[in-house]
Amino acid sequence: MPHHQSRRSIIAAFSFMFIVAAGAHAEAVVSVSPRLANVSILATGGTIAGTGATSTTTVGYTAATVGVQNLIKAVPELAKVANVTGEQVFQIASENMSNEHWLVLAKRVNVLLAQANVDGVVITHGTDTLEETAYFLNLVVKSRKPVVLVGAMRPSTALSADGPINLYNAVLLAASVEAAGKGVLVAMNDQIQAARDITKTNTSTLDSFRTPELGMLGYIQGGKPFFYRQSSRRHTQDTEFDVSALASLPQVDIVYGHANVGPAAVDAFVAAGARGIIHAGVGNGSLAAKVKPALTSARQKGVLVVRASRVGQGIVARNGEANDDELDFVVADTLNPQKARILLMLALTKTDSSKDIQRMFYTY
Ligand code: DGL
Repeated sequence: MPHHQSRRSIIAAFSFMFIVAAGAHAEAVVSVSPRLANVSILATGGTIAGTGATSTTTVGYTAATVGVQNLIKAVPELAKVANVTGEQVFQIASENMSNEHWLVLAKRVNVLLAQANVDGVVITHGTDTLEETAYFLNLVVKSRKPVVLVGAMRPSTALSADGPINLYNAVLLAASVEAAGKGVLVAMNDQIQAARDITKTNTSTLDSFRTPELGMLGYIQGGKPFFYRQSSRRHTQDTEFDVSALASLPQVDIVYGHANVGPAAVDAFVAAGARGIIHAGVGNGSLAAKVKPALTSARQKGVLVVRASRVGQGIVARNGEANDDELDFVVADTLNPQKARILLMLALTKTDSSKDIQRMFYTY
């Protein structure tokens, strides 16, 4: 029996003994099999935990109402792919996810993954900010063990709800050896995608989560993961970021580019104390003549400015639409504005150097 299997069988035996000894006070463990990996499910809310008035209610439902134990009970097949335990970390609609939620979640994930009796983590999450939480964890989880985020586009009460099969796929992926060392993953719609490049592309359809140009990593089919590629950027235990001692994150805001834009948003964020601004520019991160002076002034006050693009795909070229060397701006490479915000926040916990931060945007 391979080492990790023998380790698991010993751990599983002790776990089982502990659970029996602890009696009714133990977390609801569906079953314990030495053959299976131990996967912790951390629930945060969202549509996967949502309920609607009727079985055909797929909009206008209430997110974040079903508890983690009921999510697990609704998928008895989980017991065939892993020994699962559930924790209700939050119960929120994910538009309300905050930096504070992220720090609590990241610290809990790192504590669990440091335990020998935890082989992987699944996080159930609303889809509105799922890509952001996934990328944040991709930069701060300190383990090679699988971390898989999962949500649903339909509430649990809907006809053909996608939550149960998405949760089943996410747990079997987190229990797999193939998923180790691949960075934080997202399992939706039978696909495996990387935290860095995935984005929500549709307000309501089942195939909303895509990696439009850089490509998803693989599929989950017939209860097995199939990988065809992996991210080339640094992640998880290979990053320089550590949130274990952080109680907060630097304030970074996003201004949106469009025709007829003015400087008001930039000025307001600077006045409110932002340490960084992401400019979600039109095209290749273009700066409107009315906005450029406000961003230049912000930089002169010590605010870090990153040129991103509202377009969603492609590289924002350094010194392309603006002289970044002269303005001392940073470019976001291919990160969308909401993910550029996350990287800049973490970068500012390490340095104020625009040169060092530009390196980070070309690394992560
Ligand atoms: N309120 C949205 C959220 O919690 C619902 C969308 C969803 O979870 O699919 O993200």
